Amino acid sequence: MPVHIEKLDGIAFLAFPDTLDFLKTELSERFSLSSLSGTNSKTFGEILYIENTSEKRTDLFLSEQPYWARTTLLEPFLLHFESIGDAAKALKEIQRNWAPYQYQSFRRAALIQEKLPYINLKAKNFPVEIPKSPIGVYTLIDDKTILASAKTSSFLPAGKIEFVEDHENPPSRAYLKIQESLTLARHFFGVPLPGPDSRCFEAGACPGGWTWVLVNLGAKVYAVDRAELAPSLMQNPLVEFCAHDAFTLKPEEIGKCDWVFSDVICYPERLLEWVKKWLDSGLTKKMICTIKMQGAIDYEIVKKFAEIPDSRVVHLNYNKHELTWIHAGE
Ligand SMILES: C[S@@+](CC[C@H](N)C(=O)[O-])C[C@H]1O[C@@H](n2cnc3c(N)ncnc32)[C@H](O)[C@@H]1O
Repeated sequence: MPVHIEKLDGIAFLAFPDTLDFLKTELSERFSLSSLSGTNSKTFGEILYIENTSEKRTDLFLSEQPYWARTTLLEPFLLHFESIGDAAKALKEIQRNWAPYQYQSFRRAALIQEKLPYINLKAKNFPVEIPKSPIGVYTLIDDKTILASAKTSSFLPAGKIEFVEDHENPPSRAYLKIQESLTLARHFFGVPLPGPDSRCFEAGACPGGWTWVLVNLGAKVYAVDRAELAPSLMQNPLVEFCAHDAFTLKPEEIGKCDWVFSDVICYPERLLEWVKKWLDSGLTKKMICTIKMQGAIDYEIVKKFAEIPDSRVVHLNYNKHELTWIHAGE
């Protein structure tokens, strides 16, 4: 038998780099999956496989993505094969689009990928739109076995977006976070990106990575921080800078904004209070805020952000120990 498919009754999650422990804690605290150790779970690189997940839980993971998982392998199976050609043929027969996640057997995996229909795995130039076609994920767990799932929770290859980086112009690497979160805002909510007609308010804008992205899209930015932005942005006619505590400025003092952003390092409770003030004011419909964590993650407070209508909480590829709240209302 050249290939044999063995359906698995569990579920598998591909964690963001170095976040496997966060993922385990989240699954136990947020999703009440208790037996994550011993024989009930196995790891393959950054994939965590959990056996015997009840149907109810699979349904749950269809609608709710763990923050620390790049993608979920919703219907995992093992593909036992002899040759690379057989492996690629078997995957192709299931569906067109497959992305690799590899932690070993890189050469062999590359040979399989070459035989699969083309998908663009290169870093993208911002702005980019995420295609809405299903994409499976697979990994070689040994030379003759693939762990895969055709059905996954992300439209991105192995749940990851990567941008072509500009090492010269942005004043900080934080620009990648706003590029990713704006891309996701458009993907989740169908809203256009900020553009020449947009007025943005940005709290905690120094040194200006986010502002740099916004002005490059042609938007006007009212940037507030205690410290000034990079000189090129301070001189940019699209930027108005105000040295102030962003949280003590009332929305009414700032006025109507198409987008409101915050990358301020503060307690999530303080951020939530500020977000609610903006939403209650009716002066903005679209917000993107980084939820910064100190120590263990308080999933109760994160839930309060996620419960705000027309919102999503995500962990970005470009987030470190923090989450991002994206809101786009009508
Ligand atoms: C992580 S940095 C922001 C980086 C920025 N998003 C970028 O792309 O370059 C956080 C900023 O928040 C500012 N900050 C902290 N508390 C603030 C407050 N209450 N009001 C305004 N800015 C504040 C800090 O001065 C710091 O510049």
